[in-house]
Amino acid sequence: MSTTGENAPAAPEGVNLEEASSARIYDAYLGGTTNWAVDRYFADQAVKQFPLIKPLAMANRRFLGRVVRAALDNGITQFLDLGSGVPTVGNVHETVASHARADEGRVVYVDYEPVAAAHSDHILTEQDALDWAGIVQADLRDPVSVFEHETTQRLLDLSKPVCVLLVSVLHFVGGETDVDALVRQYHDEFAPGSWLALSHICNEDSDNEGAAQIARLAEQYKNTQNPAFLRTRADVERWFGGYSLLEPGIVHLADWRPDDEITEAEREAGPFMWCAVGEVPAT
Ligand SMILES: C[S@@+](CC[C@H](N)C(=O)[O-])C[C@H]1O[C@@H](n2cnc3c(N)ncnc32)[C@H](O)[C@@H]1O
Repeated sequence: MSTTGENAPAAPEGVNLEEASSARIYDAYLGGTTNWAVDRYFADQAVKQFPLIKPLAMANRRFLGRVVRAALDNGITQFLDLGSGVPTVGNVHETVASHARADEGRVVYVDYEPVAAAHSDHILTEQDALDWAGIVQADLRDPVSVFEHETTQRLLDLSKPVCVLLVSVLHFVGGETDVDALVRQYHDEFAPGSWLALSHICNEDSDNEGAAQIARLAEQYKNTQNPAFLRTRADVERWFGGYSLLEPGIVHLADWRPDDEITEAEREAGPFMWCAVGEVPAT
């Protein structure tokens, strides 16, 4: 199979074009062009396996947008987007730029995928945003590398509230990683009033056919650079143990403070992800 698609941009050095990557597959689900034949092949197979995957990706992206706007409305202007992905529709810094005062917004993107990192850098440079937004190419399983990075140190003031985004990424973290401990480690770095927003694939609230489809899809991600893990509401509840959950609590995507942008297909896809937002309480 040819690894270079007609629309694919030049790949940064060191990019693995032999195996699909979750960053580039997700870009393909969302109709982007920062993906290669290997990613598009996987995405096409995924649609056959689980036809709601594209609306699910879009519903997740819209959840992200609603969270960022809610945080801004709540006075939070700093964002740490862990597993931020390839820039696409509704990037966090763009939502921030259109909602926060020009001198207030701060955004740090974190992703370990070289294409996601290179394109984030490219878009921030092109938009002349590097003095208030930046990309850290790091593995979020190593929080020290995230917090000690020059860009994080320069842009985020951890003595003030930060909105931490773990959106559609923890299902790619598992295996030897203690996810509970990792989530706690991030929690412990942030000031009272900070938010954690999270979404995660699941299948416990769907009919048997949908549940089996997404379980098979998760299985197929084992053939990519990012094996996926299905988890349950109980896992999400545990991760929010140190937070005060904000209304409406742990719900499916379309039910978190919905607006009228949500389509019927996105509503149908909703039960395949849990999502929630919690606040670090005052001590
Ligand atoms: C499905 S995309 C989600 C993008 C974005 N958060 C969203 O919800 O629209 C998952 C992203 O997480 C990144 N990712 C997965 N594991 C990671 C890790 N351990 N460290 C950093 N990034 C990771 C992938 O490279 C990919 O870009």
